[in-house]
Amino acid sequence: MNKTCLRIGHRGAKGYVAENTIESIQHALSLDVDGIEIDIHQCASGELVVFHDFTLDRVTNGSGEISEHILSELKHLKVKEQYSIPTLEDVLNLIDKKCLLNIELKGKNTVEETSRLIDFYVDKKGWKYQDFIVSSFQQDLLASVYKINKKIPLGVLTDTDLDQAIAFGKTIHAVAIHPDYTMLTKTHISTIKSLGFKVFTYTVNDKKTISRMKKHKVDGVISDFPDRI
Ligand code: G3P
Ligand code: CA
Repeated sequence: MNKTCLRIGHRGAKGYVAENTIESIQHALSLDVDGIEIDIHQCASGELVVFHDFTLDRVTNGSGEISEHILSELKHLKVKEQYSIPTLEDVLNLIDKKCLLNIELKGKNTVEETSRLIDFYVDKKGWKYQDFIVSSFQQDLLASVYKINKKIPLGVLTDTDLDQAIAFGKTIHAVAIHPDYTMLTKTHISTIKSLGFKVFTYTVNDKKTISRMKKHKVDGVISDFPDRI
């Protein structure tokens, strides 16, 4: 993809439809996004599920840790009273190479199954490694992905220490740094880019800030309202 600034829907299109649901991702696709960002946990029966929080309480009618529930239990819950929790495979089958998929590893034990699924979709379903970017704030998880398969594109998320994220990114040959936009100046952006990383900034919803980020030549903006990019 050769666009100057990728339009990436945050948790699907969180500003329009309940986050990390099939319907939210469908809405993002209908907005012709270049990419979609989702969050991943492993549930108690081993499948990877698309969900942001470690606990169910904020967005579902369930409660407790998501990692302590098996998939059939999670599938009975309602997200924001009407939607279900998708698996990563549900999302892969929906997106089906239509855009970049940014998988953010949130929960523990997500590395091996994410790597296995990416390999499977590359080997058997016609995806390319470049159709994926795996990101995380948890650098140990990114280091484990790098150890398992060096072909998987990686992005280092940071909301605290840009220099440390860049230094770590070099060790795992990350393709991108994903900084919180509030910490980014024009100089930061050009420095990160001069080191060979892409800059995918999050979560930018305000039109003026989106314009500023684009003017400073970030490679991608992750937004709840991707049609504003
Ligand atoms: O991947 C960018 C952004 O989603 C990271 O923060 O808390 O929304 O997952 P969060
Ligand atoms: Ca996320």
